[in-house]
Amino acid sequence: MTKGWTKSDWRAKPRVQMPDYPDQSALNGVEAQLAKYPPLVFAGEARKLKKQLALAAEGKAFLLQGGDCAESFAEFAADNIRDTFRVMLQMAVVLTYGAKVPVIKVGRMAGQFAKPRSAGTEVIGGVELPSYRGDIINGFDFDSASRVPDPARMLQAYTQSAASLNLLRAFSTGGFADIHRVHAWTLGFAEHDKAERYRALSNRISDALDFMNAAGINSETAPSLASVDFYTSHEALLLEYEEALCRIDSITGQPVAGSGHMIWIGDRTRQPDGAHVEFARGVLNPIGLKCGPTTTAEDLKVLMAKLNPHNEPGRLTLIARFGAGKVGDHLPRLIKTVQAEGANVLWSCDPMHGNTIKAASGYKTRPFESVLREVREFFEIHKAEGTIPGGVHFEMTGKDVTECTGGLRAVTDEDLSDRYHTACDPRLNASQSLELAFLVSEELSSLREAPRRVAL
Ligand code: PEP
Ligand code: CO
Repeated sequence: MTKGWTKSDWRAKPRVQMPDYPDQSALNGVEAQLAKYPPLVFAGEARKLKKQLALAAEGKAFLLQGGDCAESFAEFAADNIRDTFRVMLQMAVVLTYGAKVPVIKVGRMAGQFAKPRSAGTEVIGGVELPSYRGDIINGFDFDSASRVPDPARMLQAYTQSAASLNLLRAFSTGGFADIHRVHAWTLGFAEHDKAERYRALSNRISDALDFMNAAGINSETAPSLASVDFYTSHEALLLEYEEALCRIDSITGQPVAGSGHMIWIGDRTRQPDGAHVEFARGVLNPIGLKCGPTTTAEDLKVLMAKLNPHNEPGRLTLIARFGAGKVGDHLPRLIKTVQAEGANVLWSCDPMHGNTIKAASGYKTRPFESVLREVREFFEIHKAEGTIPGGVHFEMTGKDVTECTGGLRAVTDEDLSDRYHTACDPRLNASQSLELAFLVSEELSSLREAPRRVAL
């Protein structure tokens, strides 16, 4: 793909948001160890995902990407993985119903450990310490020892990712995700309006399945009904880790990031000549690129040429994250840049990162109303431009947390302290996630009804 590229070339480029490890020989030891470990994902899977994303860019599939802002060592438990997986299955059912196209399920899971931060240090009670940068780098506790970057954390992140992926693979193919269990996925879900709406939809799907069964089509005769493809993704921020897990695809001879199926470049690390872009451009995986209010048309042009020089469909997903009320200021100009370049991209909407505020209680939160509004604006603008809104990107959990305010079972500012468990940004809870899925589904079904503008 990229001739002359090597997995360590990023080291010669300016790097931001990465730790300075105090113990270089410990770091070298960990890198050498990880380099010998098996990759977590295989190139064929990354290529398959890329093909599916290419369909989403054409409106023939839809991307649902979601999971924790930051996975943590402390929250690592089978129930957490199952609950997020389950709510994503529910959301996918709702979206498929509206869009009438396959939904590509990609977790921010099994590798989403490293975090960019807006400030290098944090001050509490007059004490200043380095910021927490995710469990793969340093510790969350506010004491100087835990904030020292420790390379051994990479080994724990690898192990946790491997175990998470193992469980996700088992859930995907072992019966849990069989569409005949569409009702069972609701179990453990509190009673509320959207749960009722979900139940009504499940009834309709069950009826259709009964009909198909009578016609001889069931999970045995059509095994695709009994399993799902589920992919993993994370921000490729900690490049020592990414390099150590980079492998060569034995079929194409191309380098592949072995740390997850899809990797993305964050809004703070997308410098066209920076280390993160340099690493991502050389691996064959699908790449996400966050686009924020400061993304210029010129940068986007250069980034598209670097990250997708052959204009391969499915390779590049542009993840728009402008903030409610600001999508109209930025998305149209970036859509025009993409069109002027004739670039193949998949447009996805992250309505989380432009909508973070500090509540009066001091908690970081996101008003659910702003999240909904940004999604609506994203769809409206694509409708007006005649382009395709091909996916969504959420920070969410299957747990009943109180991190984002609002939603049908309104979480108030005062409620935030009840169940605020995130290690970083506030996530949608299961009920808010489902509510959002219904909104996106409505947008998608209205798109199907609207005539699509054809490019001449
Ligand atoms: C994230 O996805 O958690 C993140 C930090 O996003 P962004 O780079 O868009 O701010
Ligand atoms: Co985040």
